Amino acid sequence: MGRAYCGDALRLLQATPAGSVDLVMTSPPYALHIKKAYGNASPEEYVAWFLPFAREIKRVLKPDGSFVLNIGGSWTPKQPTRSLYHFRLLIALCDTLGYHLAQEFFWYNPAKMPAPAEWVTVRRVRVKDSVEYLFWLAPGPTPRADNTRVLTAYSKEMQRLRRRVLERTMRPSGHKIRESFKNDNGGAIPSNLLQGGNNEASTLYFRGCKALGMKPHPARFPALLPKFFTEFLTEPGELVLDPFAGSNTTGIEAEKLGRRWMAFEENQEYLEGSKLRFWPALAEEAIARSRGEAPGAKVTKTQVREKASVSGAPRGAEKAQPARASQGKLFGEG
Ligand SMILES: C[S@@+](CC[C@H](N)C(=O)[O-])C[C@H]1O[C@@H](n2cnc3c(N)ncnc32)[C@H](O)[C@@H]1O
Repeated sequence: MGRAYCGDALRLLQATPAGSVDLVMTSPPYALHIKKAYGNASPEEYVAWFLPFAREIKRVLKPDGSFVLNIGGSWTPKQPTRSLYHFRLLIALCDTLGYHLAQEFFWYNPAKMPAPAEWVTVRRVRVKDSVEYLFWLAPGPTPRADNTRVLTAYSKEMQRLRRRVLERTMRPSGHKIRESFKNDNGGAIPSNLLQGGNNEASTLYFRGCKALGMKPHPARFPALLPKFFTEFLTEPGELVLDPFAGSNTTGIEAEKLGRRWMAFEENQEYLEGSKLRFWPALAEEAIARSRGEAPGAKVTKTQVREKASVSGAPRGAEKAQPARASQGKLFGEG
């Protein structure tokens, strides 16, 4: 259902046709003072760094499409106070580029480590920072969405209340009950607080990478985030793009949900590892071999690399010139 492209997201976005994408779901490198393995702009330079990407994202989106941006907070160096960079970014996205803020979401990750250690675990003057923002933005004021596609199970409390209401309406008490409250709508409307950890050490992807000596991506989405927004904001067959794809959690969740997808990532190693998500048999074989359970198995890093690798540029953008030799290298179909 999709294709992964290795290269700079800005160049690849520029090579993507205008108005062709239904949902951009992404988590760019956050602004950090300590550089991570994949490089991060500092909070001071973050808005200037990100705006060119965001401008292109707006161009490639359909007028009623959506842009979901996951971004973590940051601290002021040497001070127990917070940086405002993500709020500055949000304001610039809306005021400078003309995005509309459809809604803020919060990702509660109970497995998050207590940091910065100096303020949280040593001096004990701040608490654990367990929430990250997801800004749901859109080029227009009325992005397509349908919350009936993401209903959750009714809570015990809600079930109890409904039961009580139904009982009461059966008696001639005169008590007025809103009709809508009695309906079983197939589930509860979810809130904008999404909960889940990203320590999916048990996944085939993670264990397959380890078995093959490949580094699993260090900052993966939990599957629930791309799954939720893909279901909420797109329909089967529509196109989901992650321009900072990492291990391509967005792509695999889109694939499972029958959506088309595109993934851009500048680090080839991360994209090579992401293939294990799409060909779980390769991961299973590598894991079995590493345990000595399938001594005849021959899965190697090279085999994973060669799996479905071809060259090219985003569909409908064949004129785009790769900036580096690896740029435009891709795998996938559709
Ligand atoms: C926070 S990670 C995304 C992880 C991803 N959500 C996942 O589930 O694996 C950000 C990714 O952006 C990539 N990246 C940073 N700058 C980029 C650029 N200019 N073009 C393409 N990818 C870039 C990094 O290599 C990194 O893998």
